[in-house]
Amino acid sequence: MVQAEARRSVDMVGLMARTLSGIKPTGPLTLGRYLGAVRHWVDEQSSGEAFYFVADLHALTTVQEPGEVAARTVELATLLVAAGVDPQRGSTVFVQSHVRQHAEMTFMLECVTSFGELRRMTQFKDKSGEQDFVSGGLLTYPVLMAVDILLYGIERVPVGDDQRQHLELTRTIAQRFNSRYGDTFVLPEAVVPPVAARIKDLQDPTRKMSASSTAGPGVIDMLDPVDDIVKKIRRATTDTVGSVAYDAEKQPGVSNLLDILGACTDEDPEKLAERYDGYGQLKADCADAVLDVVRPIQDRYRELERSGAMSSLLADGAKHASGIAELAIRRAQANRGLWTG
Ligand code: AMP
Ligand code: TRP
Repeated sequence: MVQAEARRSVDMVGLMARTLSGIKPTGPLTLGRYLGAVRHWVDEQSSGEAFYFVADLHALTTVQEPGEVAARTVELATLLVAAGVDPQRGSTVFVQSHVRQHAEMTFMLECVTSFGELRRMTQFKDKSGEQDFVSGGLLTYPVLMAVDILLYGIERVPVGDDQRQHLELTRTIAQRFNSRYGDTFVLPEAVVPPVAARIKDLQDPTRKMSASSTAGPGVIDMLDPVDDIVKKIRRATTDTVGSVAYDAEKQPGVSNLLDILGACTDEDPEKLAERYDGYGQLKADCADAVLDVVRPIQDRYRELERSGAMSSLLADGAKHASGIAELAIRRAQANRGLWTG
């Protein structure tokens, strides 16, 4: 009975375009992460059923402070909703560790993933080189990511370019399981948004804008006080050329400001460049445009915090997600040959 139900649910999954993506609570939601990822999630949600979650288990591979993971998790989840990822528009928002099946399925799929495949992952090679203590979790993390996707029969996974390799591994794992144990998983595709909005650090425009624990002077945290945002943009590195052109090679700082302004106003940065002859006005307009994006999100964030609505919203999200994940896990267990009673 359960198996028939599980099979039916997975068959139905094949007919619906489901989207899913996750974000790690390893630091603040930077303007870069918002413009490069979260904003696209908001825009995409009307095109089908969507799942967006805070990947808190993933953060355990690198974040060591217990309080930090919890605080960043609830902050990020609230920001996703404040930014417009909306359960009323078909998006399920949840916290990964609230849906037990993620951890449970991971072991089963680790057993169809080879040590060599995991060791060869670029991100593992990079990150293991940076750390004194290289955990087993850092090695097997791509399997957890595969599970995040495969539990829900996802077809489209919006991710940054750096995650393509993990998506390829997800397909390999799904294909291997399907060919060994029968049709069980839907094969997902990576959807990489246009790279136009690769936002750079305001102090060092040769580096991507990213933050590990807190946002420094070159990084805008979506929750920074508005005055700090204006200051950070005013102090952004430019150059001594003296004119404004969209040329990432010769004028990386100026081009980054044009990218930010363009991304916030939905205009072409190259065309925007023609309107300016000095850096002061460009910075002032860039700050205004960023504040127009940030302010309503901060207002909504505070409202959500005040109302205490997030706990029940996330509980509903986890309940919905775990209903689907449970069917997927039972089907996988049955096909793999575990005795399911
Ligand atoms: P992260 O967790 O910081 O790796 O970011 C999650 C996703 O946000 C990435 O896969 C990118 O798609 C996007 N992202 C992060 N930082 C930036 C940035 N500076 N510019 C554009 N997109 C970004
Ligand atoms: N690994 C992703 C990152 O570092 C986050 C993530 C976890 C994810 N699970 C996922 C993204 C599933 C897409 C689908 O950005």
